[in-house]
Amino acid sequence: MSLQLGDVAPDFVAVTATGELRFHDWLGEGWGILFSHPADFTPVCTTELGTVAKLEKEFAKRNTKVAAVSVDSAEDHRVWAEDIAETQGAAVNYPMIADADRKVSELYGMIHPNSSDTAAVRAVFIIGPDKKIKLTLTYPASTGRNFTEILRVLDSLQLTAEHQVATPADWEQGQQVIITPAVSDEEAAVRFPGFRAMKPYLRLTDQPKNA
Ligand code: BEZ
Repeated sequence: MSLQLGDVAPDFVAVTATGELRFHDWLGEGWGILFSHPADFTPVCTTELGTVAKLEKEFAKRNTKVAAVSVDSAEDHRVWAEDIAETQGAAVNYPMIADADRKVSELYGMIHPNSSDTAAVRAVFIIGPDKKIKLTLTYPASTGRNFTEILRVLDSLQLTAEHQVATPADWEQGQQVIITPAVSDEEAAVRFPGFRAMKPYLRLTDQPKNA
């Protein structure tokens, strides 16, 4: 069965372009993102890894480490990283996991044989400080991912982990949020003074500040 939200992200030891990585140790106490790409030296993947490299400070601000994985070798990753820096204008300073034996890809169900027997799909796993999976995404090889959306989800996950709120459709940082049904109106009046009830089940409040 595929990995589901709330499952513990499987631990592994892997080789990367820059050395060995012990996944859970590397994650430490913070948040993590593991994302797969179909193959090195391919165009969409080149733009994706470059985009993630450009967002390095955004992930760091959110106490989030990022690692890429594909079924290529560490040597291929090293050579391709130079192409990414040259064409995308950003150095890949995050781990590129070499998974030629498919150990990681199989642990995370990243190979979908009815799509491709040999290459991973574009999967994303967001992992919380408790090492549990908070989000999964699967895109086909032909469609590059929107990493701004992944940052947006990370913001929502981090906010809603700390406060009893949920974020509405298309929510962005700073916009109003929804008070979860678990909070009574009496409690909401104390915790979210001035909240607005459009319906008994749809109560909005300003975004609380994260610690
Ligand atoms: C790409 O990254 O461009 C790509 C990779 C595998 C299949 C199709 C496209």
